[in-house]
Amino acid sequence: MSTQLSSEQILDDYATYVSSGKANFFKSIGLPLIPGKREGVRIYDRAGHAFINCRSSGGVFNLGHRPQPIIEALKNALDELDIGDHLLLSEWRARLAKKLAALTPGDIRYATFTPGGGEAIDVAIKLARAYTGRPGVIHAVEAYHGHTGFALSATGDKFKARFGPMIPGFYAVPFGDIAALEDVVNATTAAVIFETIPVTGGILIPPPDYYPRVRALCDRFGAQMILDEVQAGLGRTGKLWALSEWNIVPDFMVLGKGLSAALYPISAATYRPHIDARFADEPFMHISSYGGAELGCVAAAAMLDIITAPGFLDNVNARAKQLGAGSAAIRARYPALVADVRQRGLMIGIEMVDDMLGPALTLALAQRGVLANYAGARANTLIIMPPLIIGAADTARVLNALEDSFRQLAGG
Ligand SMILES: Cc1ncc(COP(=O)(O)O)c(C=O)c1O
Repeated sequence: MSTQLSSEQILDDYATYVSSGKANFFKSIGLPLIPGKREGVRIYDRAGHAFINCRSSGGVFNLGHRPQPIIEALKNALDELDIGDHLLLSEWRARLAKKLAALTPGDIRYATFTPGGGEAIDVAIKLARAYTGRPGVIHAVEAYHGHTGFALSATGDKFKARFGPMIPGFYAVPFGDIAALEDVVNATTAAVIFETIPVTGGILIPPPDYYPRVRALCDRFGAQMILDEVQAGLGRTGKLWALSEWNIVPDFMVLGKGLSAALYPISAATYRPHIDARFADEPFMHISSYGGAELGCVAAAAMLDIITAPGFLDNVNARAKQLGAGSAAIRARYPALVADVRQRGLMIGIEMVDDMLGPALTLALAQRGVLANYAGARANTLIIMPPLIIGAADTARVLNALEDSFRQLAGG
């Protein structure tokens, strides 16, 4: 698949035809990485330098790059299927939804499929508004739910400041603050939406009683509770769903990224039967030409088989323990640089004392063959999210690169 184009030519074409700002940004930070070959937990630049991908694109690469069982499943499917006609019924959509229903919490049973996570969030908010007949949507100040319509309106200011006016009826509260939420939820609230563990906000862990109280508050006012598990779901936290920790059942749970196994875009708004029942007379309430593409359904179903196989989450939990212990040791060694470490499974946020340190650490790690990045809405926090299939030796390599990078930043 390699081409004859030089990296300079590609950068130039990118700057001329895709995005001048993006090309300049990566040049200016000294990381003009153009991925070439990719396999397992690694991507390679065009010169063949390897990077362990600890971004995982927020979970897209949960199974690593180019997972072979999914490639096989897709190759077989290509002999018979295509995207499918979104207006017609579909065996493959029904199969995937049934598989999800067996795995999702409580009585969550229905799924509306979309290509991207932002659109799946749009579906959840749209249906919550129609179900309740109310306008209000409460989200976290630190939220990131995507760049589409309702999703962008439910996202933090940093991402929407230039694109206003946003959709009316959206209110932001600080994540984890139940009193702030109680102040704004009322009889006009259609939905309360949170990322179960906000990642772009810097891996925020709510107080233990937060979600049960959010659930109770939604029940009291008839508001729909939407949890976004686009990054935190599908095994990332060491449990199949991040929300399992709190033993609650939201009205909607939104999935994306890892659902695709990085090979065919597919996302889903899953929800409880009362929502489906409300739309019995309007079955075409969300039309999306590529939503529930049958090839994507095949990829997602094969991915679910892998992450629910015995032993899969054991590896996630073992590597989480290894990464957690290593990060705690680094925090203890560099107290002048590290303010906090927050972790659930294979999602770790290392919060540093200064906003400059996130970009600096990102670059130092890249120079040592580890790709990670600082949180989009909190530059002082480095996010480490390796593929869930990472092994002990590669985890040790990531920790060595971290240690080495902190030594450099500390001036040692
Ligand atoms: C928590 C969360 N929700 C939703 C989205 C939107 O997903 P997509 O980029 O597929 O539209 C993202 C994307 O990063 C996300 O991190």
